[in-house]
Amino acid sequence: MAIPERFIEELSARCDLVDVVGDYVPLTKKGKDYWGLCPFHNEKTPSFSVSPEKRLFCCFGCGKKGVGSIYFIMEKEGLSFPDAVRFLARRVGMEVPETGEDPGYRRRRERLLELNKQAARFFHSQMEEEAGAEGRAYLYEKRKLSRGIITRFGLGVAPDGWDHLIAAMSALGYEKQDLLEAGLAVKNQNGRIYDRFRNRVMFPIINVRGEVIGFGGRVLDDSTPKYLNSPDTPVYNKSRNLFALNIAKKSKQGRIILTEGYMDTISLHQAGFDCAVASLGTALTQEHAQLIARYAPEAVIAYDGDQAGVTAAQRAIPILEKTGMEVKVLRVTGAKDPDEYLKTYGPEAFAKLIDRSDNHIEYRLGQIQSKYRLEDDGQKVEFLRECAQLVAGLKSPLERDIYGTRCAKLCGVSPEAMAQAVGEERRQRRRTEERRQRRRDLNPAAQLQPKERDLRYENMKSARAEEGVLRLLMLDEGMFRSLGRLKEEDFSSPFLGRVYGLFLERHREGKPVEPELLAGQLTPEQVGRLAEILNHPEGLSHGEEAMRDYIKMIETERAKRREDVDPLLAAREKYLEKKSYGGRSNE
Ligand code: GTP
Ligand code: MN
Repeated sequence: MAIPERFIEELSARCDLVDVVGDYVPLTKKGKDYWGLCPFHNEKTPSFSVSPEKRLFCCFGCGKKGVGSIYFIMEKEGLSFPDAVRFLARRVGMEVPETGEDPGYRRRRERLLELNKQAARFFHSQMEEEAGAEGRAYLYEKRKLSRGIITRFGLGVAPDGWDHLIAAMSALGYEKQDLLEAGLAVKNQNGRIYDRFRNRVMFPIINVRGEVIGFGGRVLDDSTPKYLNSPDTPVYNKSRNLFALNIAKKSKQGRIILTEGYMDTISLHQAGFDCAVASLGTALTQEHAQLIARYAPEAVIAYDGDQAGVTAAQRAIPILEKTGMEVKVLRVTGAKDPDEYLKTYGPEAFAKLIDRSDNHIEYRLGQIQSKYRLEDDGQKVEFLRECAQLVAGLKSPLERDIYGTRCAKLCGVSPEAMAQAVGEERRQRRRTEERRQRRRDLNPAAQLQPKERDLRYENMKSARAEEGVLRLLMLDEGMFRSLGRLKEEDFSSPFLGRVYGLFLERHREGKPVEPELLAGQLTPEQVGRLAEILNHPEGLSHGEEAMRDYIKMIETERAKRREDVDPLLAAREKYLEKKSYGGRSNE
């Protein structure tokens, strides 16, 4: 999958950030920079700025920032680095030379994708044919779908019979073998090959790049299996894809609604919730969660109301939370699933469900409960302790009362005892918070800390200087001459050190040192941080002097750090250093 770096450099040079952003929002020039409405959040007055000179973009409203066209496309389109490169290449009409990948494999993938697309077209076209009459009636009348939504999702019908698709595809030059590989056909024991999907309504599964990667097919009655899904193929992996994400990724609703079923998701879209997606008949994976997190800061779990749905939601919460997303759980009551709920109570009622869904305490309580055996007294205490922590975090006193009492009852202790435990936990939290606030007041520098935990600086003085070094290098490559012996290990921040290492390596290999070319190697938070560093004012007129000051600061702080860690070790190191200058040979 590797794309030669030369190509990426050339591409990034050709893709002017103002042009690329301009494809999404109109920009107006003000001074050196360009301004417009932020393409990452909904707003009425422009707070999004693009600096063509530094190749930076930054929103003062939502805080989104980054460097370069490739990174902008990664974030805006939700693509990986190589995919963003391909996307931009298509835009400027450059052909991506792919290396490191078996070209045969790539061709096969492309052939499968093309076949899937043709199959989706065939199924959709059957909606207009006599053979598709029953399926058409099912979608329109039984499921009450509109023409618009059927078109948007490209729904279709697989006619009843053994080889309608095989015949249609062979007219386009595809072999049975191709259909087998695409999971569109199956082979029985006698070696006969026939259509996998027969007499079913068809849901094409489309990835975020807009490629048809597989299908789900539903029966028109109550027979089983209700759904048939494509098997995993070279282009389809159900643990890494979500139904309708290709549409939901463009939603402006600021959240992703996660459902269990194709039909739930389609109904939601029809009711105006264009941010709904469905997992593909599998449990939610970490990969799914990461995929969702790219597009929205909040996930609303809207699973079925039955026990299976509740259990699945409990499992999904920590998986989603791990990505840093805000997670809400919506409880469908009075209907078996979101689809039925919408049909019974309407979109407004569903919107209210979402509004009320901020309470996932029940789920969390269930989660805690499942970890302990409450017959055991020792475990009871642990259980209550954990519950006290959960309940103490609730904002409303009423809620604390209700849930505290419920926990107490589960263990047969008095509600007062529980209330006391919760009260103690809250007092402790308040004390910790006060202490933290005092420390913040005393140390205003801490307010300059990056928000992301793994980017926090241990040594602020040194880190500022380290940022300065990187900034100078990014602004002027001539500055590499002034680095002296500054090494990656001298940096106090592992992140800044790593970036420095990458810069050195690129410089040594004669490659341009542009932060945007690192976008594939860094997390979004890290790219954002680099953008911030670059955005900080820095005069180049006294660049060398500034560089000297920065390096001196870094070295001083490093020396202090060594002594801090272990004065004896530091002394010994110094001693050994001296000794080695005295001509000691390497052993
Ligand atoms: P309707 O019952 O038509 O409203 O469909 P639904 O989308 O609500 O489906 P349901 O809640 O029954 O199931 C949720 C999801 O599980 C489906 O969308 C499928 O992805 C998957 N699924 C359901 N039944 C089957 C089955 O029989 N086989 C397979 N492989 N997957 C299934
Ligand atoms: Mn369902």
